[in-house]
Amino acid sequence: MSRSTVAQILRATDAPGVVEVNGWVRTKRDSKAFSFVEINDGSCLANLQIIADADIEGYAEAVPTLRTGASIKVTGEIVPSQGKQQWEMQAQTVQLLGDSEEDYPLQKKGHSPEFLRSIAHLRPRTNLFGAVFRMRSRMAYAVHQFFQERGFVYVHTPIITASDCEGAGEMFRVTTLDGETLEKQPDEDFFGKPTYLTVSGQLEGETYACALSNIYTFGPTFRAENSNTTRHAAEFWMIEPEIAFCDLQEDMALAEAMIQYLVADALEHCAEDLKFLNKFVDKGLLERLEFVKSRDFERITYTDAVELLKNSGHQFEYPVEYGLNLQSEHERYLTEEHFKCPVTVYNYPQEIKPFYMRKNDDGKTVAAMDLLVPGIGEIVGGSQREERLDILRANLGEHELSEEDYYWYVDLRRYGSVSHAGFGLGFERLLMFVTGVSNIRDVIPFPRTPGSADF
Ligand code: 4AD
Ligand code: MG
Repeated sequence: MSRSTVAQILRATDAPGVVEVNGWVRTKRDSKAFSFVEINDGSCLANLQIIADADIEGYAEAVPTLRTGASIKVTGEIVPSQGKQQWEMQAQTVQLLGDSEEDYPLQKKGHSPEFLRSIAHLRPRTNLFGAVFRMRSRMAYAVHQFFQERGFVYVHTPIITASDCEGAGEMFRVTTLDGETLEKQPDEDFFGKPTYLTVSGQLEGETYACALSNIYTFGPTFRAENSNTTRHAAEFWMIEPEIAFCDLQEDMALAEAMIQYLVADALEHCAEDLKFLNKFVDKGLLERLEFVKSRDFERITYTDAVELLKNSGHQFEYPVEYGLNLQSEHERYLTEEHFKCPVTVYNYPQEIKPFYMRKNDDGKTVAAMDLLVPGIGEIVGGSQREERLDILRANLGEHELSEEDYYWYVDLRRYGSVSHAGFGLGFERLLMFVTGVSNIRDVIPFPRTPGSADF
Protein backbone atom coordinates (compact mmCIF):
# COMPACT_ATOMS: atom_id res chain seq x y z
CA MET A 1 0.00 0.00 0.00
CA SER A 2 1.38 3.39 -0.90
CA ARG A 3 1.76 6.26 1.54
CA SER A 4 0.06 9.40 0.27
CA THR A 5 0.05 13.00 1.32
CA VAL A 6 -3.24 14.81 1.82
CA ALA A 7 -2.45 16.94 -1.24
CA GLN A 8 -1.94 13.87 -3.41
CA ILE A 9 -5.25 12.44 -2.26
CA LEU A 10 -7.33 15.60 -2.58
CA ARG A 11 -5.91 16.48 -6.00
CA ALA A 12 -6.41 13.01 -7.46
CA THR A 13 -8.71 12.88 -10.47
CA ASP A 14 -9.34 9.13 -10.17
CA ALA A 15 -10.11 7.46 -6.84
CA PRO A 16 -6.70 6.54 -5.34
CA GLY A 17 -7.98 3.26 -3.83
CA VAL A 18 -6.68 2.08 -0.47
CA VAL A 19 -3.80 4.21 0.87
CA GLU A 20 -1.89 5.09 4.02
CA VAL A 21 -1.93 8.70 5.17
CA ASN A 22 -0.23 10.38 8.16
CA GLY A 23 -0.86 13.73 9.75
CA TRP A 24 -1.78 15.83 12.76
CA VAL A 25 -5.31 15.93 14.13
CA ARG A 26 -7.13 19.21 13.63
CA THR A 27 -10.59 18.22 14.86
CA LYS A 28 -12.53 15.17 15.94
CA ARG A 29 -16.26 14.59 16.34
CA ASP A 30 -17.54 11.38 17.92
CA SER A 31 -20.90 9.72 17.54
CA LYS A 32 -21.89 6.33 18.82
CA ALA A 33 -20.80 4.10 16.00
CA PHE A 34 -18.04 6.18 14.37
CA SER A 35 -15.87 9.31 14.56
CA PHE A 36 -15.03 12.05 12.06
CA VAL A 37 -11.34 12.98 12.27
CA GLU A 38 -9.82 15.78 10.22
CA ILE A 39 -6.09 15.64 9.70
CA ASN A 40 -3.65 18.04 8.12
CA ASP A 41 -0.13 17.15 7.01
CA GLY A 42 0.97 20.53 5.67
CA SER A 43 1.13 19.32 2.08
CA CYS A 44 -1.80 21.60 1.28
CA LEU A 45 -4.15 23.96 3.03
CA ALA A 46 -7.10 21.57 3.17
CA ASN A 47 -7.67 18.84 5.76
CA LEU A 48 -8.55 15.27 4.91
CA GLN A 49 -11.76 14.07 6.46
CA ILE A 50 -11.56 10.54 7.82
CA ILE A 51 -14.52 8.41 8.85
CA ALA A 52 -13.44 5.88 11.46
CA ASP A 53 -16.05 3.28 12.40
CA ALA A 54 -15.85 2.20 16.00
CA ASP A 55 -15.13 -1.42 15.08
CA ILE A 56 -11.98 -0.86 12.95
CA GLU A 57 -8.54 -2.02 14.02
CA GLY A 58 -6.91 0.40 16.49
CA TYR A 59 -10.04 2.49 17.11
CA ALA A 60 -10.49 1.68 20.79
CA GLU A 61 -6.83 2.44 21.63
CA ALA A 62 -6.45 5.60 19.57
CA VAL A 63 -9.65 7.45 18.78
CA PRO A 64 -11.73 8.01 21.96
CA THR A 65 -8.82 9.83 23.68
CA LEU A 66 -7.42 11.44 20.53
CA ARG A 67 -6.53 15.11 21.05
CA THR A 68 -5.92 18.05 18.74
CA GLY A 69 -2.28 18.10 17.64
CA ALA A 70 -1.72 14.36 17.99
CA SER A 71 -0.09 12.54 15.08
CA ILE A 72 -1.79 9.51 13.58
CA LYS A 73 -1.37 6.99 10.83
CA VAL A 74 -4.50 5.83 9.04
CA THR A 75 -5.09 3.36 6.26
CA GLY A 76 -8.31 3.22 4.36
CA GLU A 77 -10.17 3.58 1.13
CA ILE A 78 -10.50 6.95 -0.57
CA VAL A 79 -14.16 7.43 -1.47
CA PRO A 80 -16.18 10.27 -2.99
CA SER A 81 -17.24 12.79 -0.34
CA GLN A 82 -20.66 14.35 0.17
CA GLY A 83 -18.98 17.47 1.58
CA LYS A 84 -17.18 20.30 -0.16
CA GLN A 85 -14.18 18.16 -1.07
CA GLN A 86 -14.11 15.52 -3.74
CA TRP A 87 -12.57 12.77 -1.57
CA GLU A 88 -12.60 11.52 1.99
CA MET A 89 -11.24 8.40 3.66
CA GLN A 90 -13.17 5.45 4.99
CA ALA A 91 -10.64 4.20 7.54
CA GLN A 92 -9.68 0.55 7.93
CA THR A 93 -6.95 0.90 10.58
CA VAL A 94 -5.87 3.76 12.78
CA GLN A 95 -2.77 4.13 14.92
CA LEU A 96 -1.70 6.83 17.35
CA LEU A 97 1.89 7.83 16.58
CA GLY A 98 2.45 10.67 19.04
CA ASP A 99 -0.01 11.80 21.66
CA SER A 100 -0.57 15.52 22.16
CA GLU A 101 -0.57 17.04 25.61
CA GLU A 102 -3.64 18.84 26.87
CA ASP A 103 -2.07 22.29 26.67
CA TYR A 104 -1.45 22.19 22.88
CA PRO A 105 -1.40 25.93 22.14
CA LEU A 106 -3.20 25.76 18.79
CA GLN A 107 -6.57 24.66 20.12
CA LYS A 108 -8.77 27.37 18.82
CA LYS A 109 -8.79 29.21 15.54
CA GLY A 110 -7.67 32.76 14.94
CA HIS A 111 -4.46 33.27 16.90
CA SER A 112 -2.68 36.56 16.21
CA PRO A 113 0.60 36.51 14.24
CA GLU A 114 2.27 38.11 17.29
CA PHE A 115 1.22 35.25 19.55
CA LEU A 116 2.29 32.70 16.94
CA ARG A 117 5.75 34.30 16.72
CA SER A 118 6.22 33.33 20.37
CA ILE A 119 5.75 29.68 19.36
CA ALA A 120 7.64 29.81 16.07
CA HIS A 121 8.31 26.06 16.32
CA LEU A 122 4.56 25.32 16.15
CA ARG A 123 3.28 28.13 13.95
CA PRO A 124 3.87 26.25 10.66
CA ARG A 125 1.03 23.96 11.77
CA THR A 126 -1.46 26.81 11.30
CA ASN A 127 -3.27 27.50 8.05
CA LEU A 128 -1.67 30.94 7.73
CA PHE A 129 1.93 29.87 8.17
CA GLY A 130 1.46 26.67 6.20
CA ALA A 131 0.29 28.82 3.27
CA VAL A 132 3.12 31.34 3.66
CA PHE A 133 5.88 28.73 3.83
CA ARG A 134 4.53 26.63 0.98
CA MET A 135 4.56 29.84 -1.06
CA ARG A 136 8.07 30.64 0.11
CA SER A 137 9.21 27.29 -1.23
CA ARG A 138 7.39 27.76 -4.53
CA MET A 139 8.81 31.26 -5.01
CA ALA A 140 12.37 30.04 -4.37
CA TYR A 141 11.83 27.41 -7.05
CA ALA A 142 10.40 30.00 -9.44
CA VAL A 143 13.40 32.30 -8.88
CA HIS A 144 15.73 29.53 -10.02
CA GLN A 145 13.42 28.69 -12.90
CA PHE A 146 13.32 32.31 -14.07
CA PHE A 147 17.11 32.55 -14.26
CA GLN A 148 17.81 29.03 -15.45
CA GLU A 149 15.33 29.45 -18.32
CA ARG A 150 17.35 32.50 -19.37
CA GLY A 151 20.71 30.73 -19.17
CA PHE A 152 21.97 32.45 -16.00
CA VAL A 153 24.60 30.59 -13.96
CA TYR A 154 23.91 30.18 -10.23
CA VAL A 155 26.95 31.28 -8.22
CA HIS A 156 27.46 30.63 -4.50
CA THR A 157 29.08 33.72 -3.06
CA PRO A 158 30.66 33.56 0.41
CA ILE A 159 28.85 34.24 3.64
CA ILE A 160 32.00 35.27 5.47
CA THR A 161 33.64 38.28 3.86
CA ALA A 162 36.18 41.01 4.56
CA SER A 163 34.44 43.74 2.52
CA ASP A 164 31.42 45.92 3.21
CA CYS A 165 29.71 46.03 -0.18
CA GLU A 166 27.12 48.66 0.66
CA GLY A 167 29.51 50.77 2.75
CA ALA A 168 26.85 51.36 5.37
CA GLY A 169 28.85 49.75 8.16
CA GLU A 170 25.97 47.51 9.19
CA MET A 171 27.98 44.33 9.49
CA PHE A 172 28.12 41.52 12.02
CA ARG A 173 31.71 40.77 13.02
CA VAL A 174 32.86 37.17 12.65
CA THR A 175 35.60 36.28 15.11
CA THR A 176 36.96 33.42 17.17
CA LEU A 177 38.63 35.78 19.65
CA ASP A 178 37.33 37.00 22.99
CA GLY A 179 36.74 40.72 23.39
CA GLU A 180 40.08 41.54 24.99
CA THR A 181 42.26 39.63 22.51
CA LEU A 182 40.22 41.04 19.65
CA GLU A 183 41.08 44.52 20.79
CA LYS A 184 44.76 43.96 21.59
CA GLN A 185 45.82 41.36 19.02
CA PRO A 186 43.36 41.46 16.12
CA ASP A 187 45.92 39.74 13.86
CA GLU A 188 45.50 36.59 15.95
CA ASP A 189 42.00 36.20 14.57
CA PHE A 190 41.05 33.14 12.50
CA PHE A 191 41.43 34.79 9.11
CA GLY A 192 44.22 37.13 10.15
CA LYS A 193 42.04 40.15 9.42
CA PRO A 194 38.61 41.51 10.34
CA THR A 195 35.80 39.48 8.80
CA TYR A 196 32.02 39.86 8.76
CA LEU A 197 28.80 38.20 7.67
CA THR A 198 28.10 39.42 4.16
CA VAL A 199 25.57 42.20 3.50
CA SER A 200 25.49 41.34 -0.21
CA GLY A 201 27.08 38.89 -2.63
CA GLN A 202 27.32 41.53 -5.33
CA LEU A 203 31.04 42.25 -5.47
CA GLU A 204 31.90 38.56 -5.69
CA GLY A 205 28.99 38.12 -8.11
CA GLU A 206 30.53 40.77 -10.38
CA THR A 207 33.75 38.79 -10.67
CA TYR A 208 31.77 35.80 -11.96
CA ALA A 209 29.65 37.93 -14.31
CA CYS A 210 32.92 39.25 -15.75
CA ALA A 211 33.69 35.68 -16.80
CA LEU A 212 30.40 33.81 -17.21
CA SER A 213 28.38 36.83 -18.47
CA ASN A 214 24.98 36.19 -16.81
CA ILE A 215 24.96 35.01 -13.22
CA TYR A 216 22.78 35.15 -10.14
CA THR A 217 23.22 34.50 -6.46
CA PHE A 218 20.51 33.45 -4.01
CA GLY A 219 21.49 33.17 -0.39
CA PRO A 220 21.33 34.60 3.11
CA THR A 221 22.60 38.11 3.80
CA PHE A 222 22.98 39.92 7.12
CA ARG A 223 22.55 43.48 8.28
CA ALA A 224 23.12 44.82 11.76
CA GLU A 225 20.70 47.67 11.08
CA ASN A 226 19.09 48.65 14.32
CA SER A 227 15.79 49.40 12.66
CA ASN A 228 12.87 47.62 14.25
CA THR A 229 10.46 47.96 11.36
CA THR A 230 8.05 45.62 9.61
CA ARG A 231 10.35 45.54 6.54
CA HIS A 232 13.81 44.95 8.02
CA ALA A 233 15.36 41.75 9.28
CA ALA A 234 18.91 41.18 10.47
CA GLU A 235 19.08 37.97 8.44
CA PHE A 236 17.29 37.83 5.12
CA TRP A 237 17.67 36.19 1.72
CA MET A 238 18.64 38.07 -1.37
CA ILE A 239 18.63 37.25 -5.06
CA GLU A 240 21.34 39.12 -6.95
CA PRO A 241 21.65 38.77 -10.72
CA GLU A 242 24.66 40.36 -12.41
CA ILE A 243 24.74 40.79 -16.18
CA ALA A 244 27.78 41.60 -18.28
CA PHE A 245 27.56 43.76 -21.43
CA CYS A 246 24.46 45.37 -19.94
CA ASP A 247 23.31 48.88 -19.02
CA LEU A 248 20.81 50.30 -16.55
CA GLN A 249 17.88 50.18 -18.99
CA GLU A 250 18.28 46.45 -19.49
CA ASP A 251 18.82 45.97 -15.76
CA MET A 252 15.52 47.70 -14.93
CA ALA A 253 13.72 45.66 -17.58
CA LEU A 254 15.05 42.43 -16.05
CA ALA A 255 13.91 43.43 -12.56
CA GLU A 256 10.42 44.25 -13.83
CA ALA A 257 10.23 41.01 -15.81
CA MET A 258 11.31 39.03 -12.77
CA ILE A 259 8.65 40.51 -10.49
CA GLN A 260 5.96 39.87 -13.09
CA TYR A 261 7.20 36.32 -13.64
CA LEU A 262 7.13 35.53 -9.92
CA VAL A 263 3.67 37.03 -9.49
CA ALA A 264 2.36 35.03 -12.46
CA ASP A 265 3.94 31.85 -11.08
CA ALA A 266 2.33 32.41 -7.68
CA LEU A 267 -1.08 32.95 -9.29
CA GLU A 268 -0.69 29.78 -11.30
CA HIS A 269 0.81 27.45 -8.71
CA CYS A 270 -0.37 28.74 -5.32
CA ALA A 271 -4.03 29.33 -6.11
CA GLU A 272 -5.44 27.58 -3.02
CA ASP A 273 -3.08 29.36 -0.59
CA LEU A 274 -3.63 32.72 -2.30
CA LYS A 275 -7.39 32.35 -2.05
CA PHE A 276 -6.99 31.76 1.68
CA LEU A 277 -4.63 34.74 2.12
CA ASN A 278 -6.96 36.93 0.09
CA LYS A 279 -9.82 36.02 2.40
CA PHE A 280 -8.10 36.23 5.79
CA VAL A 281 -5.02 38.45 5.41
CA ASP A 282 -5.42 40.99 2.61
CA LYS A 283 -8.71 41.35 0.78
CA GLY A 284 -7.14 43.20 -2.15
CA LEU A 285 -4.36 40.67 -2.71
CA LEU A 286 -5.62 38.73 -5.73
CA GLU A 287 -6.79 41.81 -7.53
CA ARG A 288 -3.42 43.50 -6.98
CA LEU A 289 -1.44 40.50 -8.17
CA GLU A 290 -3.57 40.15 -11.31
CA PHE A 291 -3.05 43.85 -11.98
CA VAL A 292 0.74 43.68 -11.46
CA LYS A 293 1.04 40.59 -13.63
CA SER A 294 -0.46 42.21 -16.67
CA ARG A 295 0.34 45.92 -16.50
CA ASP A 296 3.55 47.78 -17.44
CA PHE A 297 5.39 49.34 -14.51
CA GLU A 298 6.25 53.03 -14.35
CA ARG A 299 9.72 54.61 -14.31
CA ILE A 300 10.79 58.02 -13.06
CA THR A 301 14.15 59.68 -12.35
CA TYR A 302 15.02 60.52 -8.78
CA THR A 303 15.11 64.23 -9.70
CA ASP A 304 11.60 64.12 -11.16
CA ALA A 305 10.35 62.05 -8.22
CA VAL A 306 11.61 64.69 -5.77
CA GLU A 307 9.82 67.41 -7.75
CA LEU A 308 6.65 65.34 -7.88
CA LEU A 309 6.70 64.75 -4.11
CA LYS A 310 7.42 68.41 -3.36
CA ASN A 311 4.50 69.53 -5.54
CA SER A 312 2.15 66.83 -4.28
CA GLY A 313 0.65 69.01 -1.56
CA HIS A 314 0.98 66.00 0.75
CA GLN A 315 2.36 66.50 4.27
CA PHE A 316 5.26 64.10 4.86
CA GLU A 317 6.89 63.40 8.19
CA TYR A 318 10.40 63.43 6.67
CA PRO A 319 11.64 66.24 4.41
CA VAL A 320 11.81 65.84 0.63
CA GLU A 321 14.88 67.54 -0.78
CA TYR A 322 17.25 66.76 -3.63
CA GLY A 323 20.17 64.88 -2.09
CA LEU A 324 18.20 63.17 0.68
CA ASN A 325 17.19 59.53 0.67
CA LEU A 326 13.57 58.75 -0.12
CA GLN A 327 11.86 57.47 3.01
CA SER A 328 9.32 54.69 3.03
CA GLU A 329 6.44 57.20 3.24
CA HIS A 330 7.72 58.87 0.05
CA GLU A 331 8.10 55.55 -1.73
CA ARG A 332 4.61 54.56 -0.72
CA TYR A 333 3.17 57.86 -1.88
CA LEU A 334 4.68 57.29 -5.32
CA THR A 335 3.35 53.75 -5.71
CA GLU A 336 0.08 53.95 -3.79
CA GLU A 337 -1.15 57.51 -4.30
CA HIS A 338 0.45 58.77 -7.47
CA PHE A 339 1.22 55.97 -9.91
CA LYS A 340 -0.96 53.33 -8.26
CA CYS A 341 1.39 50.63 -9.56
CA PRO A 342 5.00 49.48 -9.16
CA VAL A 343 7.49 52.18 -10.11
CA THR A 344 11.25 52.23 -10.64
CA VAL A 345 13.10 55.34 -9.48
CA TYR A 346 16.50 55.75 -11.16
CA ASN A 347 19.53 58.05 -11.43
CA TYR A 348 20.12 58.96 -7.79
CA PRO A 349 22.57 61.60 -6.47
CA GLN A 350 26.02 60.07 -6.15
CA GLU A 351 26.41 61.15 -2.51
CA ILE A 352 23.71 58.86 -1.18
CA LYS A 353 24.80 55.72 -3.05
CA PRO A 354 27.71 53.22 -2.67
CA PHE A 355 31.10 53.50 -4.37
CA TYR A 356 30.53 50.93 -7.09
CA MET A 357 27.74 52.66 -9.01
CA ARG A 358 28.43 54.14 -12.43
CA LYS A 359 28.70 57.90 -12.66
CA ASN A 360 26.33 59.44 -15.18
CA ASP A 361 27.44 62.04 -17.74
CA ASP A 362 25.77 64.82 -15.74
CA GLY A 363 28.56 64.39 -13.16
CA LYS A 364 25.99 64.48 -10.34
CA THR A 365 24.00 61.28 -10.45
CA VAL A 366 24.78 57.58 -10.67
CA ALA A 367 23.04 54.85 -12.68
CA ALA A 368 21.15 53.44 -9.70
CA MET A 369 17.60 52.14 -9.54
CA ASP A 370 15.11 51.12 -6.86
CA LEU A 371 11.95 49.23 -7.77
CA LEU A 372 9.10 50.17 -5.43
CA VAL A 373 5.83 48.32 -4.98
CA PRO A 374 2.54 49.33 -3.32
CA GLY A 375 2.26 48.37 0.35
CA ILE A 376 5.97 47.88 0.89
CA GLY A 377 8.14 50.40 -0.95
CA GLU A 378 11.59 49.24 -2.12
CA ILE A 379 11.85 45.58 -3.00
CA VAL A 380 14.70 45.81 -5.52
CA GLY A 381 17.85 47.93 -5.39
CA GLY A 382 20.34 47.84 -8.25
CA SER A 383 22.66 49.74 -10.53
CA GLN A 384 25.00 49.78 -13.47
CA ARG A 385 28.53 49.33 -12.10
CA GLU A 386 31.44 51.69 -12.65
CA GLU A 387 33.55 49.85 -15.23
CA ARG A 388 36.04 52.68 -15.91
CA LEU A 389 39.24 52.11 -13.95
CA ASP A 390 40.14 55.73 -13.25
CA ILE A 391 36.65 56.72 -12.13
CA LEU A 392 36.31 53.64 -9.92
CA ARG A 393 39.62 54.49 -8.26
CA ALA A 394 38.44 58.03 -7.64
CA ASN A 395 35.16 56.70 -6.18
CA LEU A 396 37.01 54.42 -3.77
CA GLY A 397 38.97 57.45 -2.61
CA GLU A 398 35.84 59.57 -2.20
CA HIS A 399 34.27 56.85 -0.06
CA GLU A 400 37.46 56.52 1.99
CA LEU A 401 37.95 52.93 0.95
CA SER A 402 41.41 51.58 0.30
CA GLU A 403 42.26 50.29 -3.15
CA GLU A 404 44.43 47.67 -1.47
CA ASP A 405 41.39 46.03 0.14
CA TYR A 406 39.47 46.05 -3.13
CA TYR A 407 42.39 45.24 -5.50
CA TRP A 408 40.59 42.11 -6.71
CA TYR A 409 37.49 44.15 -7.56
CA VAL A 410 39.57 46.82 -9.30
CA ASP A 411 41.37 44.13 -11.32
CA LEU A 412 38.13 43.40 -13.19
CA ARG A 413 38.52 46.86 -14.73
CA ARG A 414 42.12 46.17 -15.73
CA TYR A 415 41.71 43.00 -17.73
CA GLY A 416 38.92 43.30 -20.27
CA SER A 417 36.55 45.62 -18.44
CA VAL A 418 32.93 45.56 -19.62
CA SER A 419 29.83 47.53 -18.77
CA HIS A 420 27.74 45.46 -16.39
CA ALA A 421 24.76 45.86 -14.13
CA GLY A 422 22.70 43.97 -11.58
CA PHE A 423 20.30 44.24 -8.69
CA GLY A 424 19.28 42.71 -5.40
CA LEU A 425 15.75 41.49 -4.76
CA GLY A 426 14.91 41.07 -1.08
CA PHE A 427 13.27 37.64 -0.98
CA GLU A 428 11.21 38.37 2.16
CA ARG A 429 9.98 41.67 0.72
CA LEU A 430 8.87 39.78 -2.38
CA LEU A 431 7.06 37.28 -0.16
CA MET A 432 5.31 40.08 1.73
CA PHE A 433 4.18 41.39 -1.63
CA VAL A 434 2.83 38.08 -2.97
CA THR A 435 1.25 36.89 0.31
CA GLY A 436 -0.14 40.20 1.58
CA VAL A 437 1.50 39.50 4.97
CA SER A 438 2.45 42.88 6.41
CA ASN A 439 5.31 41.99 8.77
CA ILE A 440 8.61 40.58 7.53
CA ARG A 441 8.82 38.41 10.69
CA ASP A 442 5.90 36.38 9.39
CA VAL A 443 7.46 35.35 6.08
CA ILE A 444 10.75 33.98 7.53
CA PRO A 445 10.73 30.64 9.33
CA PHE A 446 12.87 31.94 12.20
CA PRO A 447 13.10 35.74 12.17
CA ARG A 448 16.24 37.48 13.41
CA THR A 449 15.61 41.07 14.43
CA PRO A 450 17.19 43.41 17.01
CA GLY A 451 16.90 41.80 20.42
CA SER A 452 15.38 38.61 19.07
CA ALA A 453 17.06 35.37 17.95
CA ASP A 454 14.81 32.72 19.47
CA PHE A 455 14.47 29.12 18.37
O1 4AD B 1 19.29 47.99 -1.83
P1 4AD B 1 20.23 46.99 -1.24
O2 4AD B 1 20.98 47.37 -0.03
O3 4AD B 1 21.22 46.61 -2.46
C1 4AD B 1 22.29 45.78 -2.36
O4 4AD B 1 22.61 45.13 -1.42
C2 4AD B 1 23.02 45.65 -3.69
N1 4AD B 1 24.36 45.13 -3.41
C3 4AD B 1 22.24 44.77 -4.62
C4 4AD B 1 22.87 44.61 -5.96
O5 4AD B 1 22.91 45.55 -6.73
N2 4AD B 1 23.35 43.42 -6.25
O6 4AD B 1 19.44 45.64 -0.93
C5 4AD B 1 18.73 44.99 -1.95
C6 4AD B 1 17.36 44.59 -1.47
C7 4AD B 1 16.48 45.74 -1.03
O7 4AD B 1 15.85 46.34 -2.12
C8 4AD B 1 15.49 45.06 -0.10
O8 4AD B 1 14.47 44.41 -0.85
C9 4AD B 1 16.34 43.99 0.54
O9 4AD B 1 17.46 43.77 -0.30
N3 4AD B 1 16.80 44.40 1.88
C10 4AD B 1 16.30 43.91 3.03
N4 4AD B 1 15.33 43.02 3.27
C11 4AD B 1 15.05 42.72 4.54
N5 4AD B 1 15.69 43.25 5.61
C12 4AD B 1 16.68 44.16 5.43
N6 4AD B 1 17.33 44.65 6.49
C13 4AD B 1 17.02 44.53 4.08
N7 4AD B 1 17.94 45.36 3.54
C14 4AD B 1 17.78 45.26 2.20
MG1 MG C 1 18.52 49.83 -1.38
